Amino acid sequence: MAESTKTATLSFDDKTLELPMFSPTEGPDVIDISKLYAQGDVFTHDPGFTSTSSCESTITFIDGAEGVLLHRGYPIGQLAEKSHFLEVCYLLLYGELPSAAQLEDFETRVTRHTMLHEQMVNFFRGFRRDAHPMAIMVGVVGAMSAFYHDSTDINDPWQREVASIRLIAKMPTIAAWAYKYHIGQPFVYPRNDLDYASNFLRMCFAVPAEDYEVDPILSRAMDRIFTLHADHEQNASTSTVRLASSSGANPFACIAAGIACLWGPSHGGANQACLEMLREIGTVDRIPEFIARAKDKNDPFRLMGFGHRVYKNFDPRATVMKQSADEVLDLLGVEDNPTLQVAKELEKAALADPYFAEKKLFPNVDFYSGIILEAMGFPTSMFTPIFALSRTIGWVSQWKEMIADPKLKIGRPRQLYTGESQRDYVDVENR
Ligand code: CMC
Repeated sequence: MAESTKTATLSFDDKTLELPMFSPTEGPDVIDISKLYAQGDVFTHDPGFTSTSSCESTITFIDGAEGVLLHRGYPIGQLAEKSHFLEVCYLLLYGELPSAAQLEDFETRVTRHTMLHEQMVNFFRGFRRDAHPMAIMVGVVGAMSAFYHDSTDINDPWQREVASIRLIAKMPTIAAWAYKYHIGQPFVYPRNDLDYASNFLRMCFAVPAEDYEVDPILSRAMDRIFTLHADHEQNASTSTVRLASSSGANPFACIAAGIACLWGPSHGGANQACLEMLREIGTVDRIPEFIARAKDKNDPFRLMGFGHRVYKNFDPRATVMKQSADEVLDLLGVEDNPTLQVAKELEKAALADPYFAEKKLFPNVDFYSGIILEAMGFPTSMFTPIFALSRTIGWVSQWKEMIADPKLKIGRPRQLYTGESQRDYVDVENR
């Protein structure tokens, strides 16, 4: 727990309050207003939480001005280059990089939990045949609460651990099966001899009629996409998971809530929306038209994959993703990809435009991820499920950190009420 080292003075009406302040390891100081209502009979008002720290955490740090993203202190660029997804999962979940033995043990535990209870197949079959894979994921992950009763007691650290491993291990199977169901192909079961990313690719692309060899280049690219999306401190879906968990709800229900929140186009749904936008633009000569639309306040259109609440200089994940897009397309022998061409020219045109510079809008992680996923053979409807799969470790780690805190309180924001004051009910014949 951080120590209060100084105070902030808040004066209003005839009151003056001294509020404790805390200094984080990195980032701006925070003013603790938790006693403000009790002491001053006022609330703070911050819709969208642009200036509010909602919790104390040791997992991820972002410096939006400098384009820094650290997981447990390690820069995302180093993790993307030198580590791999399951090692990053261990780091996020337990706080330190694993020894070789710890990593082997963790990988074995994850690998042994990749199967789904066979009855869960019935849940998949209940969906309309062309259901969006995100719709299936929200439902099936929530339904895990109905199967894994031995890991829903959040007060038992062992059950919390089992639930965490189950979620990390089963999410690729759920995402791949959501895809298979969506396209009408038979489910492919996980294989224990494959690594996490290869297993996912095989479950997505193998068919019973022929063997499927996982291309190590694609597997590495997939693993990097997982790593780049692993955690992002208190974003909308993570905050949703934390808020849902604060009531004591079981972990599967809470992660399903996170998946639902991620689906929106302002958040995880942006990768699908971005590729659809790039395709709609189609050719470089149409870029000015779309830039003009994005700047027009009377047009709801926004440049998808552009802008971020926290990053105001560059998104370090986007830098790695852009390099990956070049590498993957090159390695796959995809030459003159028109979508990549449009993306690069659009990025250049937007960065040279004063509107985007003034508002500090830069490409985010989702600007280039869709191009890689498309080149790998995924349809756009799978982009957000892949984000959900990758972010599961972040949600689980933040959930675990929160539940272990003995001072956990239910989340309960207040409001600035602008409705009617009390009035008397009027009988229907007199209205
Ligand atoms: N295109 C055009 N204008 C934009 C865009 C954009 N992509 N993003 C923000 N703006 C403008 C916005 O109109 C506003 O202008 P004004 O001040 O004149 O009203 C200003 O920039 C600030 O925007 P905001 O919506 O108040 O900023 P925010 O921090 O609330 O929103 C955002 C952040 C990511 C939701 C937003 O930039 C956006 O909608 N981007 C497109 C969707 C997207 O790519 N989302 C993925 C985010 S990264 C992955 C993830 O974390 O899930």
